Amino acid sequence: LIRNIKAREILDSRGNPTVEVDVITANGFGRASVPSGASTGTHEALELRDGDARYNGKGVLKAVENVSRIAEVLVGYDCRMQREIDMTMIEMDGTDNKAVLGANAVLGVSMAVAKAAASESKLPLYRYLGGANSFTLPVPTLNVLNGGKHAGNDLAIQEFMIQPVGAETFAEAMQMGAETYHALGKYLTESYGASSTNVGYEGGYAPKMEKTTEALDALMIAIDRAGYSDEEIKIGLDAAASEFYDGENYTVDGELMTAEELTAYYVDLVNSYPILSIEDPFYEDSFDDFENLTSELWETIIVGDDLFVTNPERIERGIVKNAANGLLLKVNQIGSLSEAIDAATLATRNGFSLFVSHRSAETEDTTISDLAVALGADMIKTGAPARGERTAKYNQLLRIEEELGDAGEYIRL
Ligand code: PGA
Ligand code: ZN
Repeated sequence: LIRNIKAREILDSRGNPTVEVDVITANGFGRASVPSGASTGTHEALELRDGDARYNGKGVLKAVENVSRIAEVLVGYDCRMQREIDMTMIEMDGTDNKAVLGANAVLGVSMAVAKAAASESKLPLYRYLGGANSFTLPVPTLNVLNGGKHAGNDLAIQEFMIQPVGAETFAEAMQMGAETYHALGKYLTESYGASSTNVGYEGGYAPKMEKTTEALDALMIAIDRAGYSDEEIKIGLDAAASEFYDGENYTVDGELMTAEELTAYYVDLVNSYPILSIEDPFYEDSFDDFENLTSELWETIIVGDDLFVTNPERIERGIVKNAANGLLLKVNQIGSLSEAIDAATLATRNGFSLFVSHRSAETEDTTISDLAVALGADMIKTGAPARGERTAKYNQLLRIEEELGDAGEYIRL
């Protein structure tokens, strides 16, 4: 039974406040903290910020206060009743987007409750959430080169990721990824100078580049120099296209493009590089353009992030329209663990690939690592193999793989 719930303001990796929640039960304890985006989708659940003089308005003391209100209701609940607890908070809030309590307050409690229940049940979190069938380790999709809103360069595309699909184990995938990351750093220093290995929000390098192909060529050189082939390591892109859309056209490589021209541009890239996935290729409400690209590039995973915002209603619309074949799952876009699990289930039942994802501002919380194993996710997207808040997630997966031993399996895509 839940004895106490306590929240506090802590700092995230961008230096902004965020919510941390402790759940204390008779024989268990759970602590979780909430991430935050920079290229956030318009349709995401509401992140409650104080808007006063502290921290440039970004304080979260109101959300912390709302956790106290939630605590008054939830004390005495069985912490294993995850869904009932989440639904109780959603009812208390009463809005579609958690605008009253704040998605940061609700999600903090939701994740901490799950961790307390796992501790109470004496199970690792992935096993508690996923049952006996959680044994697959996801492919890490490592963001090694940053552009867009996450870096101070001129690249339109936000994320250039490497995906070591040819590894035998998760540990080997991390080794391949880190070796390639370092080969990339070395190449960038040689060709662009020492400042080119300064990093963006998610630990990827942020060199002064202007063109997408320049970044992709650098990745190909790094993969080759690290001793891997384009069969062993694939490339993933997150365009985060809402950020370079002006309401009519897209600006890429310094040129204005229509959605049709941008479609042709992506097709060209896929024909020239070993690209396995493209996330948010168009702005967040362009279901039609997504549909065209998905049918054009049927062997590529077209992933909806800002398009779906982990919201079952929007995912349903995407399924009906064939707008994508991959879901980016961000728990704080929807604001509770139960709803995020519903979103994942809906997507995977309809043949979508599942990418469990961090946000550009993170904490040392590793809930998403366990969630990825619990859900049997295809990939986990949690930044470069650098910066503590990113490696915390990858390191947790290394521990899970070790614990699973022979029962563990690196996922085959
Ligand atoms: P965000 O970026 O956390 O800043 O939204 C991550 C992404 O777009 O996938
Ligand atoms: Zn994205």
